[in-house]
Amino acid sequence: MRESSHLGATVTPFAGAGQRLAVTGPPVSGDAPDAVRARDAKPEAAFERTLLYIARAPDPLLGAYLKSRGWELAVARTAHEASRLVKPEAAYAGIVDLTGFAPREFAGLEAVLRLQQVGWIALTDDSRLADADVRRLIRHYCFDYVHVPVSHATLDYLVGHAFGMVSLCDLGASGAGAASPDEDEMVGTCEAMQQLFRTIRKVANTDATVFISGESGTGKELTALAIHERSPRRKAPFVPINCGAIPHHLLQSELFGYERGAFTGANQRKIGRVESANGGTLFLDEIGDLPMESQASLLRFLQEGKIERLGGHEQIPVDVRIISATHVDLEAAMRDGHFRADLFHRLCVLRVDEPPLRARGKDIEILAHHVLHKFKQDSARRIRGFTPDAIEAMYNYNWPGNVRELINRVRRAIVMAESKLISAEDLDLAHFTAQQTVTLAQAREAAERRAIEAALLRHRHRLTEAAADLGISRVTLYRLMGTHGLRDEKTFFGGEAENQAELPPEGRE
Ligand SMILES: Nc1ncnc2c1ncn2[C@@H]1O[C@H](COP(=O)(O)OP(=O)(O)OP(=O)(O)O)[C@@H](O)[C@H]1O
Ligand SMILES: [Mg+2]
Repeated sequence: MRESSHLGATVTPFAGAGQRLAVTGPPVSGDAPDAVRARDAKPEAAFERTLLYIARAPDPLLGAYLKSRGWELAVARTAHEASRLVKPEAAYAGIVDLTGFAPREFAGLEAVLRLQQVGWIALTDDSRLADADVRRLIRHYCFDYVHVPVSHATLDYLVGHAFGMVSLCDLGASGAGAASPDEDEMVGTCEAMQQLFRTIRKVANTDATVFISGESGTGKELTALAIHERSPRRKAPFVPINCGAIPHHLLQSELFGYERGAFTGANQRKIGRVESANGGTLFLDEIGDLPMESQASLLRFLQEGKIERLGGHEQIPVDVRIISATHVDLEAAMRDGHFRADLFHRLCVLRVDEPPLRARGKDIEILAHHVLHKFKQDSARRIRGFTPDAIEAMYNYNWPGNVRELINRVRRAIVMAESKLISAEDLDLAHFTAQQTVTLAQAREAAERRAIEAALLRHRHRLTEAAADLGISRVTLYRLMGTHGLRDEKTFFGGEAENQAELPPEGRE
């Protein structure tokens, strides 16, 4: 896992972060069930099982017992100590005793709990569980949790189970210990991005179709790839196809392939993209541009799981997981009769919404540093960072092209910069600095818009919840959305809730 820190905030490169869905069960109290005890009567010494035990005050009796059960035990009193004990690409079971740590130590613990190669069991008590942060750590990173006191045998059973689950992971390919290629890193620390990462982890475990919606350049393709790479299909191909970039008359043969002689010029059989993704994931980008003819064929394929190559008579079974994406408003396309509703519902079993960059707060600055770090060797100078006016401009700017635009601007600035710090001018954002007079009213207005956007995003455009977060009434929120031109942004936010952007402003309290 790579962890770096800018500006006091922790960057979470998702590709390497390796947070896993918690497999938590009800708290176990007392002894392990009889069946478990019988099965575990002998220590399994056939292969080395390593156990990491983090506690402020480790229990020596527990340690001795676990050793007697065949565990190779590594004990740490701090998160830092624990992180140094973990070797890359090895599987571990882990016990984290949350009862002894102070809340201010949770951030350090979280970095260790995030290690994908460790299957964690948390020890806790009622007072700790009252803390939302503790509950979150357990939910996100632990296989299970138990109340203390707990019998040693139960713990032995639980860590054995966690170790077994972790050992199933292909740590060499996707483990947290292995550095991930930079291209696949998803940087994000804001709540909207953390929510996105959680969603990715959840949807990766299923085979259901996923529909990704978001503005241009927000990371839709990166998200599709992240889902594929965390899915059981990760060893099979990830095949992207941009439905908008292929001429309509070629799309059918591109998707489904053709047999030799199917049409003039078809000199040999061609395998289509759907078939070439067999066993893996097919990513249909810009699905909104799919012509009606291909929509019908795709729907047939989704219903039957079989394709027919052009000019062929054979029905070929193909096993692919479909992820689709668009930056256009598909609901509107359906209303206008350009997109089949039945196909949409098949494609959109699970939905992922990419937050626009302007709603990601501090992540704008973190991403800019991330890009600078990645491409700084493109400059002859030793560029060290950004001037304060560059930072300010980045926050004031609206980023219509989102992350892609930020990457392009920073890369260009790296080449153009004439000093060791990139300025707003280097980013071509000089108009967005304080040199341009901003009245207090304008500053307030901008801050208000940002807060409203973020709240709407958090709650997928559900006005009641967003209004509650903002501490205003729903009617006021609706009015402010009108003032800030946010009533038509359903596509950004997913538009999940009851088309609320179209509700009349009054009488909806
Ligand atoms: N969270 C992120 N962290 C780091 N890089 C990101 C992130 N999101 C997107 N990127 C980068 O931004 C660029 C655009 O991402 P991507 O192509 O996935 O966006 P998109 O939504 O598919 O865009 P478009 O709508 O233009 O097709 C890529 O270079 C990608 O690696
Ligand atoms: Mg794309």
